[in-house]
Amino acid sequence: MTNNIYLETNSGLIEYLNSNYKSDTLFIIDSNLTDINIDEKVNARVFYFDINEDTKNLTSVEKIWDLLFEQNLNRSSEIVIIGGGVLLDVCAFASSTFKRGISFSFVPSTLLSMVDASHGGKNGFNNSYGKNQIGTFTLPERVIICYELLDTLHIDNYKDGLIELIKHGMIANEKIFNSMITQAGFNVDFETIKQGINVKMNIVNEDFLEGNKRKLLNFGHTVGHIIEKDSNYEVTHGQAVAMGIYYELLISKEQLGLPKDIINSYLNYLNKIEYNYKYNFLSNSKKLIEILKHDKKSSEENVDIVLLYEIGNPKVINLTFNEVIEVIQN
Ligand SMILES: NC(=O)c1ccc[n+]([C@@H]2O[C@H](COP(=O)([O-])OP(=O)(O)OC[C@H]3O[C@@H](n4cnc5c(N)ncnc54)[C@H](O)[C@@H]3O)[C@@H](O)[C@H]2O)c1
Repeated sequence: MTNNIYLETNSGLIEYLNSNYKSDTLFIIDSNLTDINIDEKVNARVFYFDINEDTKNLTSVEKIWDLLFEQNLNRSSEIVIIGGGVLLDVCAFASSTFKRGISFSFVPSTLLSMVDASHGGKNGFNNSYGKNQIGTFTLPERVIICYELLDTLHIDNYKDGLIELIKHGMIANEKIFNSMITQAGFNVDFETIKQGINVKMNIVNEDFLEGNKRKLLNFGHTVGHIIEKDSNYEVTHGQAVAMGIYYELLISKEQLGLPKDIINSYLNYLNKIEYNYKYNFLSNSKKLIEILKHDKKSSEENVDIVLLYEIGNPKVINLTFNEVIEVIQN
């Protein structure tokens, strides 16, 4: 099981890294973190990489493998990866396959990677068949979560993390949901982040290889993926999931009697973070059903979708494609 370390400040992070990693540790750092000058402060080998969603591919994996060979790493070496979900996913894949697997730790530097991508062991990269189609399930040795790293994060990236965090609250922890919807402004406190991490860890600990329980983490994502595809990826993942949650709440009301005030609270929240809730679908019903058919949770005419009875009480329900499409198109 992964060990989580929580640190408040960047100076605390540097101190932790210097006292817990030997000087031959390899640090791979997101190039947007150069301002913090980690390279000047840690006693280790440091390399910066600029990998984004468009270059989250085999070529980038090969660049990381090359670095590991050039630096003569072996199976007893240690790697620390500091960055957002893209860098963590690519470097964890490269590390987990280099010489059949070499141990690595994560320092997630975006809100989304803190509450989601760094827990659960999934890694990978994109290819022409889709996102994250090649990958392994390999857990990091440690996840070191430093709150102050979030200070430099762009607001749009911060909002993407907020959506995953409120989703964690909706499926499993009412305290997270209430704290986020009642808080003035958007900044979340460290305690709420820690609770969000616990939601993800509890679920993946019960179902590491995504048999059943882990499907709950897909709340908002079934419709979110339809929106991403329908918009030809013009709508970002975070915004699409935000709207996907809204539509899946509407379906929850219809199918499971979810109280309307929860939908209203969520709409107020989206308003606060200046995110849209409604999406104008470009495709007709027939085309939307085709998109839904490609969802990994779909069979011939039905899809398994996560719905809520209320906050903290989710259930995977099997619906026909028409039952989903009718609600989202109205
Ligand atoms: N493995 C999993 O279980 C899992 C789960 C969810 C998402 N993901 C993956 O995570 C990726 C999205 O991750 P993300 O939202 O972190 O995006 P990202 O890694 O692209 O980071 C967003 C941007 O923020 C920059 N950045 C990172 N930390 C910063 C900081 N502290 N200050 C300033 N800028 C900083 C990055 O360089 C990048 O430009 C997707 O590829 C997705 O597939 C994986």
